Amino acid sequence: MTPTTENALATPVGITLERYIKRKQSEFAYATGELSQLLRDLALAGKIVNREVNRAGLSRITGAMGEKNVQGEHQQRLDVEANIRFVRALTNGGEACAVLSEEDEHIIQTGNVFGKYVVAIDPLDGSSNIDVNVSIGTIFSIYRRVSRVGGPARQEDFLQGGRAQVAAGYILYGSSTMLVYTTGHGVAGFTYENSLGEFFLSHPDIKIPRQGPVFSCNEGNWFDYPEFVRTFLMTCKERRLTARYVGSLVADYHRNLFTGGIYLYPPTTDKPTGKLRLLYEGYPLAFIIEQAGGMAVTGADVVLDVQPTTDLHQRAPLFVGSAELVVELQAVAAQ
Ligand code: AHG
Ligand code: MN
Ligand code: MN
Repeated sequence: MTPTTENALATPVGITLERYIKRKQSEFAYATGELSQLLRDLALAGKIVNREVNRAGLSRITGAMGEKNVQGEHQQRLDVEANIRFVRALTNGGEACAVLSEEDEHIIQTGNVFGKYVVAIDPLDGSSNIDVNVSIGTIFSIYRRVSRVGGPARQEDFLQGGRAQVAAGYILYGSSTMLVYTTGHGVAGFTYENSLGEFFLSHPDIKIPRQGPVFSCNEGNWFDYPEFVRTFLMTCKERRLTARYVGSLVADYHRNLFTGGIYLYPPTTDKPTGKLRLLYEGYPLAFIIEQAGGMAVTGADVVLDVQPTTDLHQRAPLFVGSAELVVELQAVAAQ
């Protein structure tokens, strides 16, 4: 054997997502296998969406639907397609009694009244990048229901607050496709191997550097940012941090998770609570970042401690990334 072959065979990477989930099942408080199945269902839908994303330019699936979603934003064909795929997988899987999707105003009852979980999802994140072949993603957040098993899910199931999440994750359809998730025992990342149709463990225990060289925000909104955000950004520039912003939250977040840095979606003059949705963008990404050793705040407040209102599609500002940068931002916000 050549030394290279030997090295390749010695590497621990090679565990499939399936096997990993099975191995880790006992770590979970309710180790009955249902949550594991739920994660598998999400991964399956992710594979299908990955296929659609890959051939989007060929299959006439790009472009706008001509409809607006509940956010008043124009739906793209892939938004709708991804929504259908994830809801279908969760419905067929049987473990989720309901889904809250960015693309649907109301809770979707899957009909699995005995399902113990609910899933909040942004089926396709980064809509503006679909047609131009730039990285996009999916974000999900899972709760154990508080409503009676055997009946329909209720709003309260989704409004338990970020600390009640039992799992959260995202899929990045990027230069490679990755699934990253946490069940509250650290963060693991899996890379999709196209020819085998499997996710393989590639990043076993992801930790974000405490400091980082990157700030990520839409600087076009500069004049609409509150003073504290501009003050903070000026300090980033004085220290010669570098700017990276692609406009897909999942992609910007993922890069900073590995390199260290801070992602900002601040309040703006016309969007006083920012743009991003708390239940299927803010909470899940905050859960993952805390598990990776980073932080997420809405300004002075920690995202996971923010009490949700009764609006399922509520928005909240998001500042997320390396702990030291987020602490700095938080301090400026509190002044
Ligand atoms: P979505 O495509 O799910 O509606 O999310 C879009 C979000 C997010 O992905 C991204 O970070 C942000 O919108 C970009 O907004 P700006 O164009 O205002 O920078
Ligand atoms: Mn989004
Ligand atoms: Mn979306």
